[in-house]
Amino acid sequence: MRLTHLSLTHFRNFSRLDIDIPGGPVLLVGGNAQGKTSLLEAIYYLAAFTSFHASHDRQLISFWAQNEPLVVSRIVAEFDYSTANSSREARQRLEVRLISEQDEFGNSRLRKEILLNGVSRKVSDAMGAFNAVLFLPHMLRIVEGAPEERRRYLNLSLSQVIPGYASDLTEYNRVLSQRNALLKQLNERNGDAGQLMFWDEQLAAIGARIIYFRIQVIHEIEKLAAQVLHDLTRGQEVLRLNYLPAFDPMPVSPLQYALPLDAPIDRSGQTADQIRRGFQERLERIRAEEIQRGSTSIGPHRDDLRFLSNGIDLGVYGSRGQCRTAVLALKLAEITWMTNKTNHAPVLLLDEVLAELDPARRDDLLGRLMVSEQAMLTTTDLDLFKPSFISGAHIWQISAGQVQAQPVMDA
Ligand SMILES: Nc1ncnc2c1ncn2[C@@H]1O[C@H](COP(=O)(O)OP(=O)(O)OP(=O)(O)O)[C@@H](O)[C@H]1O
Ligand SMILES: [Mg+2]
Repeated sequence: MRLTHLSLTHFRNFSRLDIDIPGGPVLLVGGNAQGKTSLLEAIYYLAAFTSFHASHDRQLISFWAQNEPLVVSRIVAEFDYSTANSSREARQRLEVRLISEQDEFGNSRLRKEILLNGVSRKVSDAMGAFNAVLFLPHMLRIVEGAPEERRRYLNLSLSQVIPGYASDLTEYNRVLSQRNALLKQLNERNGDAGQLMFWDEQLAAIGARIIYFRIQVIHEIEKLAAQVLHDLTRGQEVLRLNYLPAFDPMPVSPLQYALPLDAPIDRSGQTADQIRRGFQERLERIRAEEIQRGSTSIGPHRDDLRFLSNGIDLGVYGSRGQCRTAVLALKLAEITWMTNKTNHAPVLLLDEVLAELDPARRDDLLGRLMVSEQAMLTTTDLDLFKPSFISGAHIWQISAGQVQAQPVMDA
């Protein structure tokens, strides 16, 4: 997949950008606060329809335009699916508009519109048209941070690739909050607990699909990531991804507790329907406890994932370097996984990640980027890159929201 053109209007510090994008690696070079991360954020938005670091879409609209009665922040991209065996060869055009408008009382409202080839789409329908894999300096949080970080990581990757996953997530969250409201109400005012039956069915049906896909995908990515980590550590480390679903369709029996932490549990034979039935039965069994608690205690909203290297839990015992290498392996595996699943290579977006890696890992990553179809990397310091890489890359200077493409250098 190749992004060929990008234009931005009122997006962060870009009042207007209109630029052709070449294939291969593009290095975005500039001082602090010039717009490097914002440019990657705009591109990633086309894949995820959410920002990787803003807590609200409104933050993406240029400050200076925000007091206008009507502001439209726009990201427009053209891209090709260039893989030979892909059936989708034609050039695609994807446009996102964030529209901030004031009503007659002066209250401002934000709307999001998405157009794929000129046709309006819902977020969940536009997902998967454009694919990107993101590398950030705080990726370490995937291993070391709270379980939300890992769920977010899984959701963003799966939404791009598994049709229906994004809309299932939205629907699951809606059902979950309705069910929680009812549990709270039953807790405070009693009432007919039978009303839960409807929400249990919904939660189990949608939740089961989410769990099913997480089982499959974690299994697939684990295999690829283990191979990459094996290569990166020259065979010294064996990586395992241990999915910990809050509703476990194959609960660990008390006899198994004595087994080591990394004893593999293969849940991949479970069908979505088996999971649904088990989930629903379990909800019925713990109903009294849940009413007492006033919230839903099991389901994909409470899942976790652990990273184990040679049997130790990296989130708890891993050294910084070990965790970094494991995340790098995970991300590199994600590229291969996404390529296999979608039939075309995703665009790679790397924000200042080189500075975090030791020279051996840096070389390894750069080697892989050299041959990627398209990668965009930000840096404040061009010296981190080897001359051989720089000579094969396109260099863009970014300054105060303006991009200046440098002529391609000769080695
Ligand atoms: N909504 C917005 N409107 C206008 N400017 C914004 C908005 N949000 C952020 N900015 C500004 O845009 C500038 C560029 O930010 P960005 O994070 O892209 O910089 P950067 O080049 O990645 O810098 P660094 O090297 O420090 O990471 C910053 O000065 C930031 O304050
Ligand atoms: Mg930045």
